[in-house]
Amino acid sequence: MSENSHTRIVPLIDQRSAGLSIPDSHTAGALLPAQGQLRDTRGRQLHDLRISVTDRCNFRCSYCMPKDVFTKDYPYLPHASLLTFEEITRLARQFVAHGVQKIRLTGGEPLLRKNIEILIAQLAALRTVHGLPLDLTLTTNGALLARKAAALKSAGLNRLTVSLDGLDDRVFRAMNDVDFPVQDVLDGIAAARAAGLGPIKVNMVVKRGTNDNQILPMARHFKGTGIVLRFIEYMDVGATNGWRMNDVLPSADVITLLQQELPLLPLEASQPGETAQRWGYADADGKHDPAAGEIGVISSVTRAFCSSCNRARLSTEGQLYLCLFASQGYNLRELVRGESSDAELASAIAHIWQARTDRYSELRGSEGAAPPGEGRRRVEMSYIGG
Ligand code: GTP
Ligand code: 5AD
Ligand code: SF4
Ligand code: SF4
Repeated sequence: MSENSHTRIVPLIDQRSAGLSIPDSHTAGALLPAQGQLRDTRGRQLHDLRISVTDRCNFRCSYCMPKDVFTKDYPYLPHASLLTFEEITRLARQFVAHGVQKIRLTGGEPLLRKNIEILIAQLAALRTVHGLPLDLTLTTNGALLARKAAALKSAGLNRLTVSLDGLDDRVFRAMNDVDFPVQDVLDGIAAARAAGLGPIKVNMVVKRGTNDNQILPMARHFKGTGIVLRFIEYMDVGATNGWRMNDVLPSADVITLLQQELPLLPLEASQPGETAQRWGYADADGKHDPAAGEIGVISSVTRAFCSSCNRARLSTEGQLYLCLFASQGYNLRELVRGESSDAELASAIAHIWQARTDRYSELRGSEGAAPPGEGRRRVEMSYIGG
C-alpha cells in the first residue's frame, strides 16, 4: 500500500476568495447611515459579530480540521491577506454603530495570532450605541491559555469560552489529534479563572461513539464550579469533516443521560438569540440550585435556531459571511483597503444585512439532508470561525 492510500481526496476548490458582489447602492446618493439597529429580511436584528483572526490551529480536531486535509501543505492564508488590527477595529466600529453588542474573537485558534492583546485593547475601547462597553469574548482551545490569561484580562477581555471535548486524557488526545494532554487545558481554565475572566464557558462537541462516554464525567467535573458546560451537536460545517447524521448524538439524548444521575430542569434563555438551551441542576426539592449551576445544549442539527440568528461573521481576510454554512462572503477588505469612507463601509454593511435570508439549519431538517441547492462547497469553520 502506498503511503497515501488512506488520504481522503478533497477537491481543492478555493471558496475563500470567491466573493459576492456588494450592492453598489452604498455609493454616494444612496448611503444608508448607521442607525443603531439593523434587521434582515426575516426581522433578525444584528447583535453579534464573530471575528476570525487566524485560519491556523495547533489542534486537528477531526470535526473541524481533519489531519489528512489540513497538512503542512494546506494553502493557509498568506500574512498579507489577513486584516490588520486597525482594519478589524475600523470595521468593528461600523458594526457596533449598527447595534452590535457582542464581539467574539475566534479562529482557527485566536491565541496563535501574534499580539492578539493589542486587538483586544482596541476593541475594548469601543462603546455600544447605548454608550456601554461591548461583551467582548473569545473562543480558545486552551492550549496557550495558562501563559496568556492574565494578559488577555488586562487588555480588556471580559470572558472566554474554552473548547474541551473530554476529561479522559486518552479520549482528549484522540479528539485533538495532536496528542495534546488534557491537564494543560485544565491548567489554562484555572489560570483564566484566577485572572478574573468569568463567566467561563466550556464547549464540548459530542460525537457519538467517540467522546459520548465523556458527557457524565464532564458534567460531574464542572458542576458547582461556576463554569457553564455546553454540549454541542456535531455539525456538517465545511466540506472536509466527513459528517454523517449517525455521528450526531441529539441533545435530547444528552439530557436524558444526564438526568439519570444529575436531575435538571429547564431555565429561561438569558438573552435573545441564545444558541444554547439552558438547564439548571435541581436541588432535593426539585428547584434550581444556583450553587450547583447550569449546563447548556446547542442543538444546531435537531432543533435549528435560525429564526433568531443574529450573528455576522468576519473572516480572517475580511469577507463578511451571513451564515456558518455559507459558501461565499462579501469582500469588505476591498472596501477597507480602498477609498471607502466610514459612512460607505457602514452603508455597505447595512445593505448586505438588510438583504439577508440565510437559514441553513432550518432547511437542512433534523434528518440531516442538505437543503436543496446546497451542493456548493462551503467554507471551513476554521476560516470563518466557530
Ligand atoms: P455565548 O454568548 O457565550 O452564549 O456564545 P455563543 O453560544 O453565541 O457562541 P459560541 O461560539 O460559544 O457557540 C457555541 C457553538 O454553537 C459554536 O461553536 C457552534 O458549534 C454553534 N453555533 C454558534 N453560532 C452558531 C450559528 O449561528 N449557527 C449554528 N448552526 N451553530 C452555531
Ligand atoms: N460541529 C460543531 N461545532 C464545531 N466547532 C467546530 N467544528 C464543529 C462542528 N463540526 C466548534 C466547536 C469548537 C469551536 C472552536 O468550533 O464548538 O469548540
Ligand atoms: Fe482548532 Fe478549535 Fe477547530 Fe479544534 S475545533 S481544530 S481547536 S479551531
Ligand atoms: Fe444562523 Fe446559518 Fe446557523 Fe441558521 S445555520 S443559525 S442562519 S448561522
